[in-house]
Amino acid sequence: MRISFPVTRGQFSFLLGIVPVFAAWIYAEYLEYKKNNTLAKARHSDIGLVELGNEAVKEDDDRAVLLEGGGGLQPASPKARTPTSSFPIFRFLMMEEQFLIDNRLTLRAILEFGFFMAYFYICDRTDMLGSSKKSYNRDLFLFLYFLLIIVSAVTSFTIHHDKSPFSGKPILYLNRHQTEEWKGWMQVLFLMYHYFAATEIYNAIRMFIAAYVWMTGFGNFSYYYVRKDFSLARFAQMMWRLNFLVLFCCVVLDNSYMLYYICPMHTLFTLMVYAALGIFNKYNEIGSVMAAKIIACFFVVILMWEIPGVFEVIWSPFTFLVGYTDPAKPDLPRLHEWHFRSGLDRYIWIIGMIYAYYHPTVEGWMEKLEETEAKRRIPIKTAVATISLAVL
Ligand SMILES: *[C@@H]1O[C@H](CO)[C@@H](O)[C@H](O)[C@H]1NC(C)=O
Repeated sequence: MRISFPVTRGQFSFLLGIVPVFAAWIYAEYLEYKKNNTLAKARHSDIGLVELGNEAVKEDDDRAVLLEGGGGLQPASPKARTPTSSFPIFRFLMMEEQFLIDNRLTLRAILEFGFFMAYFYICDRTDMLGSSKKSYNRDLFLFLYFLLIIVSAVTSFTIHHDKSPFSGKPILYLNRHQTEEWKGWMQVLFLMYHYFAATEIYNAIRMFIAAYVWMTGFGNFSYYYVRKDFSLARFAQMMWRLNFLVLFCCVVLDNSYMLYYICPMHTLFTLMVYAALGIFNKYNEIGSVMAAKIIACFFVVILMWEIPGVFEVIWSPFTFLVGYTDPAKPDLPRLHEWHFRSGLDRYIWIIGMIYAYYHPTVEGWMEKLEETEAKRRIPIKTAVATISLAVL
């Protein structure tokens, strides 16, 4: 096996980090096993009944936490929270037994993640698994996509009823489930496009990326406008969610951030929406303030991308992060790739914000339409559908 040397500091650190987690996880599994064994014994005598009850409750809320997902891997039972020494990292280093048992699932998740990273490394940085040329076949591409549609329709067709936080009525169109679904189908297409190098659908893919950025504006605007949660915690969580996989890919594969440009791009536009709504957020309800904010967004984009030289000035301090040298074109400036990629869909997120602002209004029209009698409703719906399709 040939490994590309030298191993970077990042890769080495990653390995160093994973090893103690691995050891701790094995130990935690052992502790858990031992605990269950004692419990099983207790079941046969009557003394253990009270304890047994307690344990059952604990197992239940562990499961509940897992089901909630998203940052929910921490222990939920109040018992587990009693701090012996407060910092989790200390409790981890001291191999505190209760702490390890409580966080067994987190340890396992970290380890699984480590395995995926190792797999990426083996595929991309060693010659253990052979490589091949990409080849595209339209029939195969469409076949796989339709197959996926059929399988998902059969296995996961659920109707959700997202409620509006204002009226408590269900949101009819572009609710969270619909936009997530839409995003998911496009993500599958992005992957398949790259996997097969399906150049003939390039234009469609560009449209989908724009649609995705539109939803970044739409979803984030709706969220911040309605929930008004500009807290650091939620902000940090979002930044982490958008970038943690990329971060580890960059470290383990020794790649540039810019090779995963879609992440910095969405991060940037998410930040812009956050800033647009967060600054003077007390006045967000006032129509003219919102109009001014939208206009300001356009100005920022015009300033950054349309006026030559400004982009370089703004971004040059961040070249270490967003700089990239294409081995095929080593003469281009380091910021060229970022300038190009971030500029492709630079306006659409603002359009998404405008849509989000008027969404409740349009939603109101839809509700009214649903209430009118069929004689008027059907022609109106047909007209709307026809016009939309014509535009498409
Ligand atoms: C904000 O945009 C990012 C990037 O597209 C997305 O991952 C996130 O889900 C959006 N947030 C909301 C609340 O829609």
